[in-house]
Amino acid sequence: MKNRIVRWGILLLVGLGIGAGIGFVQREKALEGGVVPLADGEAGMVLKQPESTVVGGKTIGGDFSLTDHNGKDVTQADYANSYKLIFFGFTYCPAVCPTELQKITKVMDALAPEQAAKIQPLFITVDPERDTVEAMKSYVAQYHPKLVGLTGTSEQISAVMGAYRVYASKVENEHMEGYMMNHSAYTYLMSPDNKLVEIYPDKDTAEAIAADISARSL
Ligand code: NI
Repeated sequence: MKNRIVRWGILLLVGLGIGAGIGFVQREKALEGGVVPLADGEAGMVLKQPESTVVGGKTIGGDFSLTDHNGKDVTQADYANSYKLIFFGFTYCPAVCPTELQKITKVMDALAPEQAAKIQPLFITVDPERDTVEAMKSYVAQYHPKLVGLTGTSEQISAVMGAYRVYASKVENEHMEGYMMNHSAYTYLMSPDNKLVEIYPDKDTAEAIAADISARSL
């Protein structure tokens, strides 16, 4: 009897230890890669949820009021005739954003022209403080010619980030000039009527995303 209690006690301690370890590793990964679940524990549910705006019981997407990289004020209605491939990030991002935006460029180039014509890629900043209209304009010019950069006031950006369940936080330390943004790195495919079609995590390759979109025959 006593032995069994001791054994259970050990199992419990080991379990707690593993749990804490996993929590720590996840936190470290989030800091390194800028990839975090949309909200605690939701990552698994998020990955493959077709043709729905609801993920893990939460609505993804919603109208926005932003300014494009040419200084024009826009809302969702400005892209009403297109599927949208939306990525959130910031122009000072050293790694994740350039990789993901290159990936979107590759996807657009890999698709049949009549499919690509139906897709509007959008890059929405999570750093409106530095990502002015001018900064966005020169930044998006490095990627696909159809890519539109969107910025806004911090309130407008908070609202659209909330609608898409995007996580971002400022990271500062004494070794860096300025600051970084630790942010989630999902690419959202939205339908012309603004329903969530798919969420692609950053581990998905351009080939895989292009294949997935092609198979949907938009
Ligand atoms: Ni980034």
